[in-house]
Order: sequence, then structure tokens, then C-alpha cells
Amino acid sequence: MRFGEWVLLKDVKGRAYLLRLREGGVFGHHRGNVPHEEILRAGFGGRVRTHLGEALSVHRPSLEEYVLHMRRAATPTYPKDAAAMVMLLDLFPGARVLEAGTGSGGLTLFLSRAVGREGRVVSYEKRPHHLRQAQENVRAFSDLDNVDFLLGGLEEAQLPEEAFDGVALDLMEPWTVLEKAVRALKTDRFLVAYLPNITQVLELLERAQAHPLALEKVLEVQHRTWDLRPPVAHPSFQQVGHTAFLVQMRKWKDSSSTPS
Ligand SMILES: C[S@@+](CC[C@H](N)C(=O)[O-])C[C@H]1O[C@@H](n2cnc3c(N)ncnc32)[C@H](O)[C@@H]1O
Repeated sequence: MRFGEWVLLKDVKGRAYLLRLREGGVFGHHRGNVPHEEILRAGFGGRVRTHLGEALSVHRPSLEEYVLHMRRAATPTYPKDAAAMVMLLDLFPGARVLEAGTGSGGLTLFLSRAVGREGRVVSYEKRPHHLRQAQENVRAFSDLDNVDFLLGGLEEAQLPEEAFDGVALDLMEPWTVLEKAVRALKTDRFLVAYLPNITQVLELLERAQAHPLALEKVLEVQHRTWDLRPPVAHPSFQQVGHTAFLVQMRKWKDSSSTPS
């Protein structure tokens, strides 16, 4: 462990705090403070105490933990959904994936990890402030350096035809970018959209009829956590509720562009 690294501290109630270690820094908890030097000495997997005696465990943040606690410009794709999108997109090391909008870079981090150093994520974001935050979040967590951050609406992008192994969309009106996205997607590969409202899903499916896209599935990802402290053992009283619907579509060979 060294200064500059991300650390996740957890208190006895399971509350988590994300911080970056810096020389002379002090972490403030409502039950006391801990100098960053002490956290560094404890190391990942170790424990520290605040000056008021509160115990905190010290961890390297997982990708899920980082995305849940990182600084936000827009609301990030919930990690359970981002992980499912990687599966629905059928991503693999070396794949090229097109994304819009970048938002805070949460989904970008999942895509970047899935395609690896040999792969590429090309990510469009129309708000400069969101793009800056996403770049900062991604670069601060990952050294893969496999993301192109592009400012602008995907509907205005100049993209080569059939160049991407997948398209991931998390924006309010995905139908406005369908033409560009579908053209850039390889035949028989997947476009996956993340949509909070079923009315958006219905509109997307209707608008998709004008494109060579077939609906594969619409699903929700539900995690039901349990509280296990024997003899207490029951589903947690507080659960993550609805986040979004995931829509998976596959590109057909466009008969209008196939020679007869
Ligand atoms: C909900 S946020 C995306 C969050 C992101 N998936 C994450 O995990 O951090 C939606 C983003 O899409 C951007 N956006 C909306 N329409 C767009 C378009 N046509 N092209 C590119 N970005 C767009 C918005 O500015 C916003 O930042």
C-alpha cells in the first residue's frame, strides 16, 4: 500500500468510506479521526482505531464498492446491472465496445475491465462536466488506458460501419442514437440498453422496428440480500429496490443492404 491509493474503510455497522491516501491526511469519522499514516501502516486487510476507539477495517475497494462510492456527475449504472450488461453484451478480452452516455464512468469501468488491455471502449458523452468527472473517475481507479472519452452526442458521431462487438446505452432517449449505434455494430452482435422506466422500454422497442434489430430479452436484475447473524437469519429488511430494465437486442443482417 502507498500514498495515492484508494482505500475503503468499514466501521462495525458495515458503513463504508472511500478515500485516497495522502501524506499528512486525516480521515474523519463521526466517532473519531485516524491519520492516513496509520491506515497505511495497517495495510489492506488490517484494522485501525479512531482516537475515540472506533474500529475500522481497511480494504482495497472492489470495482462494485468504488462505483457505489466514487464522486458522481450523473447517477452511475448500478453495479449489479453493469455486471449483467457485460454478460448480455457477450464481451471478451480484446472486444471493441461503443458506449453512450459516459455519465460518471461507472459502466465504463465495467466495460473497460471486461475488454481488457487489448480491447477498446469508445464512450460518448454530450455534457462536458460529466465527461470530465468520468475521465477522472476511470483514470483514478484503473490503469488499463483502453477508453476513448469523446465529447458529443452519439447521434452526431462519425463511426465506421460494423466496427464494434457491442453497444451499451445508458441515456434517457436511446432511440435518438439508434441509427448511428446500429450501423457501427457488427452483424449478429448485441446492443444493450439500461432504462429505468417501462415506458422507455416500450418506446425503444417501437422505434427499433425501423432498424435491423431483434429483441432478445428484457429483464431486471434483482439481488435479495440476507441478514445472517445466527440465530437471526432472514432477508435484509432494507433491499435495493428497482433500478432499471435491461433490454438486449441483436443485429440482423439487413436484407435491404444484402445483394440479391
Ligand atoms: C444516467 S447517465 C449515464 C451513467 C453512466 N452509465 C455511469 O455508469 O456513470 C446518462 C448520461 O447520458 C448523457 N447523454 C444523454 N444523451 C446523450 C447522447 N445522445 N449522446 C451522448 N451522451 C448522452 C447524459 O449527459 C448523461 O451524462
